Amino acid sequence: MYRIMFVCLGNICRSPMAEFVFRDMVKKAGLEDRFKIASAATSTWELGNPPHYGTQAELKKHGISCGGKRAVRLKYSDYDDYDLILGMDRENIRDMKRLFDGDPDGKIRLLKEYSTGGEVDDPWYNGDFQTTYADVSEACRGLLDSLVK
Ligand code: 4NP
Repeated sequence: MYRIMFVCLGNICRSPMAEFVFRDMVKKAGLEDRFKIASAATSTWELGNPPHYGTQAELKKHGISCGGKRAVRLKYSDYDDYDLILGMDRENIRDMKRLFDGDPDGKIRLLKEYSTGGEVDDPWYNGDFQTTYADVSEACRGLLDSLVK
């Protein structure tokens, strides 16, 4: 069982996009039984809210639903409950290391380490959910390949 947590600032734009894109890939690969997949926020700002309309609309374009998802906060116990904890940008990584008192088991990575490197830009600020989808899908593909090869 692989336990994967995606993390961003608000858990309404990037990390739910990654969660539902990755769920879809895992399902299509017939590997659902081997994964536990979730997403969470480093901040409290959007707790309880559904994914941003832009994330919902972009996922829908690709036939993916994120129905029922609500923003939740990353918690201390998530460090033990997941094998990989993947942030979208360096600020996420810094905030997670503060919450978890470091990263003793080396579980915290940038999602784009599984593709081109760098950060997933925040569409909350630039409105470009299409680029978020492309970035997240490429990295999720790389992640899945790295785990099942
Ligand atoms: P996310 O985007 O971290 O990708 O979910 C944001 C969502 C909300 C806010 C900022 C970024 N906000 O300022 O409330």
